[in-house]
Amino acid sequence: MAEMSESKISDRETDGQTGGQASRGVSGHVILVTGAASGLGLADSKMLVEQGARVVMTDIDEERGRSLASELDAVFFHQDVADEGRWADIMTAVEAGFGRLDGLVNNAGIAPIADIETTSTATWRSTLAIHLDAAFFGCRAGIKLMKENGGGSIVNMSSTAALVGIPDYLAYSAAKGGIRSMTKAIAIHCRRQRYGIRCNSVHPGSINTPMVQHALRELMDVDLNAAEDPERMRRKLGIGEPDDVAGMVTFLLGDQSKHITGAEMVVDNGDTVV
Ligand SMILES: NC(=O)c1ccc[n+]([C@@H]2O[C@H](COP(=O)([O-])OP(=O)(O)OC[C@H]3O[C@@H](n4cnc5c(N)ncnc54)[C@H](O)[C@@H]3O)[C@@H](O)[C@H]2O)c1
Repeated sequence: MAEMSESKISDRETDGQTGGQASRGVSGHVILVTGAASGLGLADSKMLVEQGARVVMTDIDEERGRSLASELDAVFFHQDVADEGRWADIMTAVEAGFGRLDGLVNNAGIAPIADIETTSTATWRSTLAIHLDAAFFGCRAGIKLMKENGGGSIVNMSSTAALVGIPDYLAYSAAKGGIRSMTKAIAIHCRRQRYGIRCNSVHPGSINTPMVQHALRELMDVDLNAAEDPERMRRKLGIGEPDDVAGMVTFLLGDQSKHITGAEMVVDNGDTVV
């Protein structure tokens, strides 16, 4: 076995604590969630608020986002995650309002249905911009602020599409694959720099959100909400619930996961195993 260098060893000693806080879980943590006006981002925001976090929700859907944030007692900012300049505004506002950032969930996304033969260049570019560019902008801006408070935890929303590739979601699969490997590179950079910042990716299978309801209608002619017993239909199709993912996201943002970084956490009820 190759001898481990001293720098590698010392690099291993540091990681973990989120924000240098002694609390467990996410209580008191300031956490920014993108794409928070629907589906998984909304479920994450709800669970985080329930567990005592101070949540900043952002989305392009301003009306829905504002109304949901006020119900949850969270803060809302309008944000197009693909807009590089807006990230700086958001981080300045977070710093002004809370003085720190402990957690970031790069969650916003779109899922255009198109394969290698039908994907237009415009769709390719916008999909990569909203997923991959945005996660890059978010991580870079988030780390800058998290460094100041001695640590933090970043969760990048990927997908099982990153692990297997889904033919009808060509650009989406490419973007999610990029997020998966970028997450690992960021995790190790932060470890080397002893920032105390962790970075992990989450890979859900099919989860019952508007995104998947749309896919079911388009690809399988199934309207989940119109089913006689939507809950039974959901289970029959092997589709998970938003809270299944929110539980993982909340865990990764909290102090109990302090020894986990660069990991890919699959939430798919074993779909990619069988
Ligand atoms: N639902 C699933 O089964 C599933 C599976 C794997 C991964 N994901 C990922 O989870 C994330 C959330 O998906 P969801 O299922 O909750 O979808 P959703 O469509 O319910 O919600 C997506 C949210 O992102 C927002 N959004 C879209 N473009 C944006 C932009 N440019 N800037 C800011 N906000 C924007 C939308 O307004 C919406 O509120 C996505 O990254 C998606 O790829 C979802």
